[in-house]
Amino acid sequence: MKSTKNKAKPFLKWVGGKTQLLDQLESRLPQKVRKTGVIERYIEPFVGGGALFFYLKSKYKIKKAYLIDTNEDLILTYKVIKKEPKSLIKVLKGIETRYLKKNESERAKYYYRIRDRYNRQKDKINYRKLDKLWMKQAAYLLFLNKTCFNGLFRQNRQGKFNVPHGRYKNPKICNEDNLIKVNIALKDTQVIYGDFSKCRKYAKPKTLIYFDPPYRPINITSNFTSYTRNGFCDKEQIRLAKLSKELSEKEVYVLLSNSDPTNGSNQDNFFHKIYNNFQIKRVFANRMVNCNGDKRGRIKELLIANY
Ligand SMILES: C[S@@+](CC[C@H](N)C(=O)[O-])C[C@H]1O[C@@H](n2cnc3c(N)ncnc32)[C@H](O)[C@@H]1O
Repeated sequence: MKSTKNKAKPFLKWVGGKTQLLDQLESRLPQKVRKTGVIERYIEPFVGGGALFFYLKSKYKIKKAYLIDTNEDLILTYKVIKKEPKSLIKVLKGIETRYLKKNESERAKYYYRIRDRYNRQKDKINYRKLDKLWMKQAAYLLFLNKTCFNGLFRQNRQGKFNVPHGRYKNPKICNEDNLIKVNIALKDTQVIYGDFSKCRKYAKPKTLIYFDPPYRPINITSNFTSYTRNGFCDKEQIRLAKLSKELSEKEVYVLLSNSDPTNGSNQDNFFHKIYNNFQIKRVFANRMVNCNGDKRGRIKELLIANY
């Protein structure tokens, strides 16, 4: 197995990031992968900050990977790091220097100015074609991620980033060394904007797919299941379960994580119902337990696999 030294780490702090569950996820990898240390084809359709992808990349040989997400600016940032890391580092370093020179109130003003530009620029960007605006947008996203309150990257329903300024003494905004490692980790990796169902196109027998969808809220009531803050309602969870079954028939290895409904109600066996025939294991994680992200607790989560 490859050494974990000097390898890329996630370049963003992302809501629902899986850093805490890495050991448990690793122990649920297919036997063959653990034995040989090789993953022929890896797909992560809700990639976010990509905690598992970067971890696996540092320990296993992944021959070909596909990373998918519906967040346009997130995918744009992955693509910029993949194609133009040096120009991105230059823009981001400029922002970092300007920000760190300022006093606290000036930093806040600067933050809100960049946040405003980031939100306004969205309407001007051609997301299909890499140009100068991409570079700026990626740099703004990284800057906002490192300096916003709690590092919570949250958008409102209009898709606007609305998190207030956080107070960090000396935030590391441009981690040049890691960005270069991420660029190397993204070699042989295709980054794709779109819905999770796009993975169908890339999945072959023995492909490993890791699904980490937005979590089903705990304490859900039956008349609340059609709406969630993150837009991923029970209908979407069911659509994903159906796709997982379809992929099982194609002999794809499917691994999935989600919240455990029994955190809220002992009777709630939603995932056991929609993933019948799958292996379901309970694990523990420390997570935000309310929507403001200011209260943490130890809660149960589920690892679901078809092998
Ligand atoms: C729980 S987060 C994933 C966190 C990730 N595993 C990490 O380590 O940072 C869920 C991600 O799914 C994305 N998403 C939401 N709906 C989606 C959909 N229909 N298809 C693909 N991605 C989606 C969100 O943009 C978000 O980045």
